[in-house]
Amino acid sequence: MGRVVVVTGASSGIGAEIARVLSARGDLCVLLARRLDRLQALANELGGEAEQCDVSDRAAVEAVAARVLARHPKIDVLVNNAGIPGRARFLDGDPDVIERLIRINYLGGIWCLRAFLPGLRAAAPSDVVNIVSVSGVIAGPPSGPYSASKHAQLAFSRTAAAELRTEGIRVHTVKPGFARTEGFPQKWLPRHVQRIVIGPDDVAAHVLRSLEQGRGETTVPWFYGPLAPLQDAMPNLFTRVLSRVPKAP
Ligand SMILES: NC(=O)c1ccc[n+]([C@@H]2O[C@H](COP(=O)([O-])OP(=O)(O)OC[C@H]3O[C@@H](n4cnc5c(N)ncnc54)[C@H](OP(=O)(O)O)[C@@H]3O)[C@@H](O)[C@H]2O)c1
Repeated sequence: MGRVVVVTGASSGIGAEIARVLSARGDLCVLLARRLDRLQALANELGGEAEQCDVSDRAAVEAVAARVLARHPKIDVLVNNAGIPGRARFLDGDPDVIERLIRINYLGGIWCLRAFLPGLRAAAPSDVVNIVSVSGVIAGPPSGPYSASKHAQLAFSRTAAAELRTEGIRVHTVKPGFARTEGFPQKWLPRHVQRIVIGPDDVAAHVLRSLEQGRGETTVPWFYGPLAPLQDAMPNLFTRVLSRVPKAP
């Protein structure tokens, strides 16, 4: 029998593609996001289930998880993917955007993990996939508040991986680079950088491999990986270079 998988942020982009690849291998996908019409259409296509949920609303997450766990006491995989972009400056960006980034990109994954943990424990060995970002290891304009939310999410994911390891719940931390999706059209990138932009299906294929091979923390595409230690090694050089990045429009 296929496994039961909960995918957050499944109404578009990377989450929808992950639901597609996991459904194709026979998993039953329970799709979560705010736009129910889009979730329902995908659930019909994949033979899955749709649940409207704002992951930043802790009470709503707990209520949805209780409903899902009543139908499926065992959850084999939780994919924490829901997230929003945020090209804004700390100094004068919209304060609501800065708060939303933290509530959705960082806290949302925590509330979902806590709410679905009884199901993951019941199904152990089970898996949690956290879709973080290369922005979780490199910070700078024009997306400082987004990057900060992803740094926090990375700390959560690494800590959860250590805390859950002995319980047979494996945490996969996936750090994608630029991918072209509805929320992240990547139109602002210069033409020479456009060549390295991948599709949401590439990230989904990577997630599938990560699950099948039991990989822990990974970067997709791989070549962003070596960049991360560079900012740690040469923070002052990065400050000088990044100070020349134009302000977000
Ligand atoms: N694209 C990239 O370049 C890139 C790179 C690295 C990491 N990522 C990460 O990948 C994840 C998916 O992004 P994407 O590129 O696929 O963007 P996307 O196409 O905009 O998808 C984002 C998904 O998150 C959902 N979502 C947003 N806020 C939500 C909330 N409060 N509650 C529940 N669901 C919510 C959206 O659905 P609703 O609007 O229907 O709620 C949508 O399904 C994000 O965590 C993002 O940070 C993306």
